[in-house]
Amino acid sequence: MRVLVIGSGGRESALAWALTRSPSVTSVFAAPGNPGIARIAEVLDVDASSPAAAVEAARTVNADLVVVGPEAPLVAGVGDALRRDGFKVFGPNSNAAHIEGSKAYAKELMDRGGIPTARWQAFEEVDKAVGFMDELGPPYVVKADGLAAGKGVLVATERDEAVEAVRDRIERRVFGDAGASVVIEEFLDGEETSLIAFTDGEAVVGCEVAQDYKRAFDDDAGPNTGGMGSYSPVPVCPPETAERILSEIIEPMVRTTAEAGAPFVGALYAGLALTSRGPRVVEFNARFGDPETQALLPRLRSDFGEVLLATATGELAGSRLEWSPRSCVSVVLASAGYPGSYDTGAEISGLDEVEAMDDVVVFHAGTAGDGDRLVTAGGRVLAVSALGNDFVAARERAYEATNGITFEGKHQRFDIGLRAAEVSS
Ligand code: AMP
Ligand code: GLY
Repeated sequence: MRVLVIGSGGRESALAWALTRSPSVTSVFAAPGNPGIARIAEVLDVDASSPAAAVEAARTVNADLVVVGPEAPLVAGVGDALRRDGFKVFGPNSNAAHIEGSKAYAKELMDRGGIPTARWQAFEEVDKAVGFMDELGPPYVVKADGLAAGKGVLVATERDEAVEAVRDRIERRVFGDAGASVVIEEFLDGEETSLIAFTDGEAVVGCEVAQDYKRAFDDDAGPNTGGMGSYSPVPVCPPETAERILSEIIEPMVRTTAEAGAPFVGALYAGLALTSRGPRVVEFNARFGDPETQALLPRLRSDFGEVLLATATGELAGSRLEWSPRSCVSVVLASAGYPGSYDTGAEISGLDEVEAMDDVVVFHAGTAGDGDRLVTAGGRVLAVSALGNDFVAARERAYEATNGITFEGKHQRFDIGLRAAEVSS
């Protein structure tokens, strides 16, 4: 099977890597991919995030399956266009991807399906938003309704900061039209975890759980980012809890999207808070998590290509996934300043030695080739994933690996997987 991956980030690097290890897959292509993907697959020098470009790329490589990585092309209708052209697609159509494209829409579906989540309301006027915020009390949660690359959410204990966040979104349009409407919601307490499930619109097969680190600095300080690291499995979310999340949250959501006329085909991602009253949804995404995927796929033993194809073709029922019992920790190396402004073009060194280490795999996210050199080209530059027999070992390995990679302005968190190591040792 010939598989085309659309996208260029760390998640797509992990998807392409897992596909190259799948017995069912003969060739892996990526559009546009990145220098790391180019080492293991054939990359097409086209940005395939628009529907027309994606169809063109799929035709060029004669793809048997197209896997769409990021949310923006899904929301833009890349899945619809590919399906219209007869391609098999892993990733929802635009109407189903709307669960990520609009937080208010996702919340409406959750309410309709009786899916446990935070109390909420959407507003287009500052005064009304602030009124509801005051009714809920601190900590305040303010979200841009639309897509904002994971950065549209503010959680704050100070009322002034929250009010400014509402004004930033609605009046100052800091997130453009994505912030024209804001969602104000109740603060959910408790450990966060992510469950990603494959669904063909009816059958559901869950992955093991993972946890990501959204804040820029250690101890969850600093601004929200696209994700600074991740680990899997999650000791505070044992298999019984994962089962409960599947039956109380994922399966009802799959039914509700189908009943809304927008059946979901692809990876349904639930971001959850494990509260004292049980698991509650923080957000749904219409794709694999980034960087959760970088900590999950190194543990997958099943044929990844086969399960993606079964999902795309409505034949998922009866599939089972095998996972390694080992622990995986993935540490993101970012550019100083991220998620704000940052420099690019810094030379990256040490990769060859690190990639030769046992139990280590390096996924490129924001890198570029510059002659013979590899340079930084984004906020999140690399994700370094390491396996170990427990989290202490996996963390040791991951940090040994990140120490071996240098570039000017390298920023990383040092506490990835630390809680898991403490809980499980
Ligand atoms: P989202 O983009 O909706 O996932 O939000 C980004 C991050 O903000 C989440 O991963 C949480 O850490 C935090 N967050 C979002 N909503 C809530 C909530 N209702 N209660 C507590 N934290 C939240
Ligand atoms: N790691 C969070 C996300 O992919 O949205």
